[in-house]
Amino acid sequence: MSSEPVAELSGAAVRLGERTIWRNLDFTLSAGELVVVLGPNGAGKSTLLQVMLGLQPLCAGSARVLGSSLRAPERGRAHSARNLRALRQRIGYLPQRRAFDRSARVRGVDLIALGIDGRRPGLPLPALSFMRAGPFARAHERRAQVQQLVAAVEAGEFAERPIGECSGGEQQRLLIAQALAHDPALLLLDEPLNGLDLSSQAAVSALVGRLCKERSLATLLVAHDVNPLLPHLDRVLYLAGGQGAIGPPEQIITGARLSELYGAPIDVLRTTDGRLVVLGGPEAPAHHPELLR
Ligand SMILES: Nc1ncnc2c1ncn2[C@@H]1O[C@H](COP(=O)(O)OP(=O)(O)OP(=O)(O)O)[C@@H](O)[C@H]1O
Ligand SMILES: [Mg+2]
Repeated sequence: MSSEPVAELSGAAVRLGERTIWRNLDFTLSAGELVVVLGPNGAGKSTLLQVMLGLQPLCAGSARVLGSSLRAPERGRAHSARNLRALRQRIGYLPQRRAFDRSARVRGVDLIALGIDGRRPGLPLPALSFMRAGPFARAHERRAQVQQLVAAVEAGEFAERPIGECSGGEQQRLLIAQALAHDPALLLLDEPLNGLDLSSQAAVSALVGRLCKERSLATLLVAHDVNPLLPHLDRVLYLAGGQGAIGPPEQIITGARLSELYGAPIDVLRTTDGRLVVLGGPEAPAHHPELLR
C-alpha cells in the first residue's frame, strides 16, 4: 500500500448557485480503503464524487486526487482539460442514475468491452485504442480482459445476455465490471445498491468489499443504508447540514454526532443483530426508509 493518500480533501467547500453544499470538509482516502458516503437527499454526496472526478470545482480549500491538485480555481482559470482527462483515466465511476430498458440489446460483455476501449467510464473511444495496438492482438487481449472482469464480478451466467433482460442486481455487477475495466486506482460508486433487494444488496456489498481489498482500490461508495455495507467498510463519511464527519461507523452513526450534523435531535438504535437504525429529525427516517420496515 502506498503511503500517499489516493485522495485528500482539506478545508474543501462547494457552492452551487446561491447555496454552499458543504464546507470545511477534511478527509483522506487510502489505497484499499472502502469509505461509505451517507447523508440525506441533497447533502452533496454525488457532488463530492464530481469533485473527485475534477468535474466540480471547489469554492474553498483544496483536493488532491491521484496526485492531481484540484484547488479552488483562481478567477478565470479552470483545471486543464489534459490533466482532467489523465485523472479520469485512473478513476472507475458508476453514476447515480442508470437504467436499461427491457428492450436494451447490448450484452454485458459488450458493455465491459466498451469500458476497456474507452479507457474512460462510459465513453468509448475505439479508434484511439485501435491505433495503440494491432487489431488482432487487441481483439484477443480484449476478450481475455473481458472474461477476467466477468469472473471478477461473478457474472458468467448472464454476461452474454442482452442487458435489458438482466435483473437489477445482475446489471449492477456488469456496470461495476465496466467501471473496473481500465484498471482504476480509485473507484467511485454512486448508490450501487439502489433498487436492489436485501440479498442482492448484501451480495454487491461483499463484491465491492472484496474487489477493493484484492485490487488495493480506494473506493468511495454512496449509499442510503449503511447496514449491508457494515461488514465490508473501513469508515463512513456522513454529510448533512452542510458539514461532514468521517470515522468508523460506531463513532459517526451515533445520536450525538448525527444530532450535531443535522442540527436536530436524532436517535440511533442498534438492533440485536447489529443493524443501525437512525430515527428522529425531520429528514432522517426518510433517508433510511429500509430501516423502518
Ligand atoms: N446549479 C445548482 N444550483 C443550486 N443548487 C444546486 C445546483 N445543482 C445542484 N444543486 C443542489 O445541490 C445539492 C446537492 O446535490 P447532490 O446531487 O450532490 O445530492 P446527493 O447528496 O447526491 O442527493 P441524493 O441522495 O438525492 O442523490 C442538491 O440539493 C441539489 O439540488
Ligand atoms: Mg446523489
